[in-house]
Amino acid sequence: MNNISQLISLLGGTGVVAEKLKIQPSAVSNWKKVNKIPNNKHQAIYELSSNLDINIEKFFPEKKPINIDTSKVKILLIICGGIASYKSLEIIRLFKKSNFELDVVMTESAQKFITPLLVTSLNEKKCYTDLFSVEDETKMNHIKLARNPDIILVAPATANIIAKLANGIADDLASSILLASFSKIILAPSMNPVMWNNLATRENYEKLLDRGIKFIEPDTGDMACGESGTGRFPEPKLIFDVILSYINENRLFVNQFKNISIIITAGPTIEDIDPIRFISNKSSGKQGFEIASELTKRGAKVTLITGPVNIPFPKCEKVIEVTTADEMLDKVTQQLPADILICSAAVADWKLIPKTYSNKDIDINNKIKKTSDNLFFEALENPDILSTIANSNLRPKIVIGFSAETNSLKKNAYSKLISKNVDLIIANDVSNNRVFGKDFNKVCLIDKNNCEQLEKQTKKSVAFHIADKINDLLTNFNQ
Ligand code: C5P
Repeated sequence: MNNISQLISLLGGTGVVAEKLKIQPSAVSNWKKVNKIPNNKHQAIYELSSNLDINIEKFFPEKKPINIDTSKVKILLIICGGIASYKSLEIIRLFKKSNFELDVVMTESAQKFITPLLVTSLNEKKCYTDLFSVEDETKMNHIKLARNPDIILVAPATANIIAKLANGIADDLASSILLASFSKIILAPSMNPVMWNNLATRENYEKLLDRGIKFIEPDTGDMACGESGTGRFPEPKLIFDVILSYINENRLFVNQFKNISIIITAGPTIEDIDPIRFISNKSSGKQGFEIASELTKRGAKVTLITGPVNIPFPKCEKVIEVTTADEMLDKVTQQLPADILICSAAVADWKLIPKTYSNKDIDINNKIKKTSDNLFFEALENPDILSTIANSNLRPKIVIGFSAETNSLKKNAYSKLISKNVDLIIANDVSNNRVFGKDFNKVCLIDKNNCEQLEKQTKKSVAFHIADKINDLLTNFNQ
């Protein structure tokens, strides 16, 4: 049973919760299915649980709020035509007041309720309405409008725009933007309850949920049309708060690591035996690259020093490519001082020196030939970059290592924490080809006082947790 199923059953079951919240049982079933309760229902769930002995916080593991640099967040608000269109004016005001960078698009039917002039004066910026405008085409066409924002909020979202988006119809500016966008799309539907519950709308809704589109669920109650049911536009402040918490949960646009310099090693190293043979390992560089990308997003100056990999470089301050362990150590040393060092590279522990029993000279600058003499290899230990830097006088404030293990994971990781003199070890079980090259990872964050086991999750999401942990370490360090 997932977390939310457990919570719903503690609250009395699907039917009871649906009845008390005046919503369809199918909505509650959906929460259980996706293991998530929409933000605008959290308050009501808190209230429902108030008389029961339930540790509600356990079910809403909110991430610690952080300061959002709102001036960096680009929002595109699409206003569709419905009786609730006028409420979007309040949403504009809230975004403006908080310094978000806001653009507004209105559909033709929205203009029957409010005028572009009104929106323009509130937003102090041109409001876009036409797909085929000679003037806009040169400055801000629908592709630019689609690519510019970080978040596209459609509020109110009518049954019509939901249907268009679900079925790939692009017959006006708003629907064309939605189809041409890579941004996070968040829909705040508002419509007559029968339209909301119509099978067509339900199917479109499910389709869009599956595609990762977020919904701010409509409220239940009396409607402007005189009917009552689910379909009422949520309060503008609530919509605004959902956007804020989305930004917060995803740690977007924060300057958490502003002015912090971080060196990250990633990928494998390759140690040549001769011009065509080498010793290396299966590291893909994915986890280190995700960490570099996450920390860059949070404002850090990241220098990524990577061995040979086959994945695109992440966005960060600098990428330095190396091949061998010796080169990697050289480059790390050259980039110091830094505030933080994260060694995620799977550095080859040895280089192999070919030898023969008769001690015949072997020319390693050319391809080694088969001989009658038996060939063997002497394993020469490579420098331990992590330990060398952690024990040097150039040691960054925080040094982090990885520990890829196939057995006794925590024990081995803890002994590395101590022996290499590092602040945090990220331990992962790499037995049975479970991690190298894959998109998922299951790690344990081990420092001197704690051992935090994370669930199996994407390497991107592991990077997110690691960045939060580094922030905690930095905060402790500065206290
Ligand atoms: O001792 P072990 O190789 O298991 O330690 C793993 C950690 O040490 C990783 O953080 C890895 O990046 C780092 N390391 C290193 N240089 C080496 C070997 C490992 O920096 N030669």
